[in-house]
Amino acid sequence: MILGEKIRLRAIERTDIPRFVRWMNDPEVTQYLLMSSPLSFAMEEKWFDDQLQRPPHQGQILGIEVQRADDWVHIGNTGLHDVDLVNRTAEFGIVIGEKEYWNRGYGTQATRLMLKHGFENLNLNRIYLEVFETNPRAMQTYINAGFTREGVFRQAIFKNGRYIDAIFMSILQSEWMETNKK
Ligand SMILES: CC(C)(COP(=O)(O)OP(=O)(O)OC[C@H]1O[C@@H](n2cnc3c(N)ncnc32)[C@H](O)[C@@H]1OP(=O)(O)O)[C@@H](O)C(=O)NCCC(=O)NCCS
Repeated sequence: MILGEKIRLRAIERTDIPRFVRWMNDPEVTQYLLMSSPLSFAMEEKWFDDQLQRPPHQGQILGIEVQRADDWVHIGNTGLHDVDLVNRTAEFGIVIGEKEYWNRGYGTQATRLMLKHGFENLNLNRIYLEVFETNPRAMQTYINAGFTREGVFRQAIFKNGRYIDAIFMSILQSEWMETNKK
């Protein structure tokens, strides 16, 4: 468990799969993701089984939970993918599937917790991400968490009938350590 001030990150469970299927079939959510086809329960179960084959330090998806009264609510997932153990890089991803929790600061907190985990526990040197130009909320979240915009892949994505640009951002371990000195 990775504990934050108002949220916590935990390993995902098989029992979470119905929630993932609901989130990944919501067009309001998937407009921002590299997903263009409906997702079935069986497809998501296979994805979950594939995740289990990999040791956590080579990339792991974690559930984002927020506290509500005496309980914890699972609102989304975040993760580090494609961990490269030689170059010490990984790709960051996040989705808050419960839309009523958007714009309440949880995405920024979850991003910062994953960066802390990646730099301070996994000893990564560079964490990067890709975000669509149509997603200014995500871009602002990443800037607030410490990412720097690196460049643009023009018309790299075809979504909802048109090409859009993909923006690339990254943060280095040295930058994280500098702004988060103990
Ligand atoms: C992107 C996402 C993770 C952000 O998490 P969140 O909890 O909604 O974001 P936060 O509340 O922490 O921060 C949002 C920031 O964006 C700003 N923002 C919101 N809408 C905006 C817009 N249209 N233009 C510019 N900034 C915007 C907010 O003001 C806030 O910045 P501030 O704290 O400086 O005021 C979440 O909304 C989400 O999962 N969306 C759907 C899936 C997705 O887009 N995933 C990312 C794919 S790259």
